[in-house]
Amino acid sequence: MKPLSMMLSVLVIGFTSSTVMAEGASLSSASLPNVSPANSDLVNRGAYIARAADCMACHREDYTGGVALETPMGKIYATNITPSKRYGIGNYTEADLKKALKEGRAPNHMLYPAMPYPSYNGMKDEDISALFAYLQTVPVVDEAPDYETDLPFPFNFRSLMLGWNMLNVPSTESREGLTQTQQHGEYLVNNLAHCGTCHTPRNSTMGFDNDNYLSGAQLGTWYAPNITPDKSSGIGNWSEQDIVTYLRTGELDQRVFAGGPMGEVVSHSTRYLKDTDLNAIASYLKTVPVVQTDDKVHPVNASRLTAPLNESITHDLLAQKDYLAQAKAEVQGGSNSPEALYLAACGSCHGVDGYGQPDARYAPIVGLSSIRREKPDGLINVILHGVDGATNTSPKMPGFSEELSSEQIAGISNYVRVKFGSLNSSDVNAADVERVATTGADQPFLIKYAGLLAILGIIVAIVIIIFIVRAIIRSRRHS
Ligand code: HEC
Ligand code: HEC
Ligand code: HEC
Repeated sequence: MKPLSMMLSVLVIGFTSSTVMAEGASLSSASLPNVSPANSDLVNRGAYIARAADCMACHREDYTGGVALETPMGKIYATNITPSKRYGIGNYTEADLKKALKEGRAPNHMLYPAMPYPSYNGMKDEDISALFAYLQTVPVVDEAPDYETDLPFPFNFRSLMLGWNMLNVPSTESREGLTQTQQHGEYLVNNLAHCGTCHTPRNSTMGFDNDNYLSGAQLGTWYAPNITPDKSSGIGNWSEQDIVTYLRTGELDQRVFAGGPMGEVVSHSTRYLKDTDLNAIASYLKTVPVVQTDDKVHPVNASRLTAPLNESITHDLLAQKDYLAQAKAEVQGGSNSPEALYLAACGSCHGVDGYGQPDARYAPIVGLSSIRREKPDGLINVILHGVDGATNTSPKMPGFSEELSSEQIAGISNYVRVKFGSLNSSDVNAADVERVATTGADQPFLIKYAGLLAILGIIVAIVIIIFIVRAIIRSRRHS
């Protein structure tokens, strides 16, 4: 869909030589796996395209598939795309791969759009050729994934996707008036990296709601925030360099962390991209039409932000342990007060003062954007389900949905938002926690009622047929 003369010049040259420079320390000089001087330039370029298009997010690092995608229609499992003739795509020609990527047609069946072909629809032929050459070199695994997709009626009729595709593919259009760099960024964002599959809300047919392009969408229990350049609810205050740093390292100034699905995007894909490509993405994101949503990010109120207790405590795990014990002993308001709950459930990692334990890679949470949002949903989700960050190697944050009541989670959320987020006030309640715990359950109308609609459709069709038959019989009688 996108003219892309730059793509070649940008991508062809040596992925092997790590020109990738990390801004943050944690992921410095990530070199691209699967790239080897023994392989042809075409194959190495294909390996890079696979990273940029994040095939591994769903087909796994070894391409054996099996990752389940939760959709409103049910679970859809990614398939084996190693060159196995029996279980993978060993019999594919390049034309077959092109059809699968651009039209969602496998040789014998239609694919579900859980495979992001509505975005890959705009992929350049030379990128598909490179990807094809690369996928031939992937080790064969003669095994099917553990689970097979089995959607309920009527979605088990894959040919229904023909109708869906007419409405929703291609999923985006290229905009006029962009510089070459921005056009390249647009191609990466819309087609290869398919950012909109998570960040653009869906319309009633589950296609992209392009009037609200990249303005944020619910993603199961996670929320993919507004990444349009709106200053209050989007990333309008981020510099281009901020965007690059975030995509490269999964964090920004210890104020924003890429958790959950975004953590995976960073760890499988964007951290491997070349500076030129990340810069192009950042430059393009700055040109996207501004959409303001009601999920405002409250600015940091520096005067209200807690200061670190003292450097030696923040950096010394043992000193911190003692300090935590002391704080727990002195806490006011009983063991069910928000502060006591915070100290008991969160303090051992994030510290009494919220500055964590940086040397042990326990994250600081003071001033984080996720606790400064108007909607507490992201924070509640993190407390309920835990977080598995892109850059986080040591203890993952556990979820507390079993240990803590909704009331208690609400109390901790308010405490964290006011004390560490510098908000003036916060009124999260148990009902908010329960709502977040059950989101993902409300589906767009058509999907929810599709089974019903399909049955109604069949009944209507039968009624029409009966009428026609009766009319024919009557006209015969009359004649
Ligand atoms: C967001 C998840 C996701 C990403 C990213 C993704 N895929 Fe898929 N892919 C799937 C799912 C799910 C299926 C199975 C769809 C179905 O059953 O209809 C699939 C199916 C396929 C198929 C069809 C295999 C067959 O059954 O014949 C091919 C080929 C394929 N993917 C290649 C790729 C390539 C190459 C990339 C990267 C450019 C990629 N996919 C990225 C989820 C994904
Ligand atoms: C698989 C879904 C998914 C995809 C694909 C995805 N994102 Fe995200 N993104 C998320 C989620 C979820 C978050 C929130 C993470 C959190 O709160 O820890 C997020 C957060 C972000 C943020 C931080 C916003 C803020 O205000 O904190 C930026 C910037 C971002 N994504 C950019 C991108 C770009 C650019 C792409 C494409 C290269 C992309 N994302 C692709 C799911 C996704
Ligand atoms: C076992 C240690 C541990 C405990 C206990 C813990 N956390 Fe975390 N938390 C972490 C780590 C590690 C991260 C950073 C994950 C990453 O790298 O993205 C994190 C991240 C966060 C974030 C940022 C998420 C984002 O995407 O912006 C918030 C907010 C948070 N924790 C709050 C809490 C609260 C509130 C509690 C108590 C209910 C708690 N944590 C308990 C380890 C912990």
